[in-house]
Amino acid sequence: MSETPENSRVLLVTGAASGIGAAIAQLAVARGHRVMLTDVNEQAVQARVSSLGSRAAGCVLDIRDPAAWVKAFEAAEAAFGAVDVLVNNAGITHTGHATDLSPQQHRDIVEVNLLGTITGTCTAIERMTAKGHGHIITVCSMTAFLPLPGYATYCGSKYGMRAFHHSVALEERDGPLDFTIIHPPSTRTDMLEQEMADPACAISFAEKSYAPEEIAKTVVDAIASKPVEVVFPPLGGRVQRIAGVFPRLMRWVIPLAEARGRRHRERLMAKTGAHQPDTAQPSDRSTV
Ligand SMILES: NC(=O)c1ccc[n+]([C@@H]2O[C@H](COP(=O)([O-])OP(=O)(O)OC[C@H]3O[C@@H](n4cnc5c(N)ncnc54)[C@H](O)[C@@H]3O)[C@@H](O)[C@H]2O)c1
Repeated sequence: MSETPENSRVLLVTGAASGIGAAIAQLAVARGHRVMLTDVNEQAVQARVSSLGSRAAGCVLDIRDPAAWVKAFEAAEAAFGAVDVLVNNAGITHTGHATDLSPQQHRDIVEVNLLGTITGTCTAIERMTAKGHGHIITVCSMTAFLPLPGYATYCGSKYGMRAFHHSVALEERDGPLDFTIIHPPSTRTDMLEQEMADPACAISFAEKSYAPEEIAKTVVDAIASKPVEVVFPPLGGRVQRIAGVFPRLMRWVIPLAEARGRRHRERLMAKTGAHQPDTAQPSDRSTV
């Protein structure tokens, strides 16, 4: 579905050099939007831009750096005009149990996923409010609902990200901005490859994984529909969301899911040595 020129928006996407962010940028450009792709990896983001044509531009942005956020907004404005939509997508993980991570690795996860997103969201609120409109879309995670072994600090960062996102949306409820948060499950990107390499992350392979293009479609669709919150998949996402509220139940369920994930991961590794999990249907998602 192509946007009419009137519906064409200017997007700033973080972490757009690979995975979900790259898929978001590609689909948004294909639909007629103009996209400033940003990433901490400047070379990789410029390589992406070169394949996307004149509706795409790129610049370096480490989301931990407040000054770099201002420069990225200025670069987008210079290339395409005021930013209509910020997609907070950049994120990292370090795999392993909490006690296996160094203090620096714990800090990295929080500084990128949580503090980086907070910095960008506040920058966007200020600039977009001054323009009288704007939409902030945050790519979070189902781990914002469900604490998982192998992901302690990552889960903590995503819990915090969701709490921040909704709190700030409430603070801004009388302002001109829209806020959407989207929670992907396991998605076949470099991040999942990183998790595949560590048996501590076996639980990520307990359920079907998604292609980044499927997550990208939800994000780009959200530009027009502006849902408040989206979970994947509709049933599984809702069950996980509810299960996260009951820690005693989780003590019973999670080891079973982890054992299933371990078996599935071993099968995947035996197949090719690479990650080729099941596929899921694009419609397999839910707005909550
Ligand atoms: N892949 C999954 O299974 C999965 C599941 C749920 C949520 N997510 C979330 O989706 C988002 C995208 O993840 P992905 O799977 O595409 O990962 P990815 O590793 O493929 O891509 C992440 C991108 O972010 C960039 N990045 C890293 N640190 C950065 C920083 N400080 N500033 C700017 N850019 C930075 C990387 O260079 C990379 O291009 C993340 O927020 C992740 O937490 C991923």
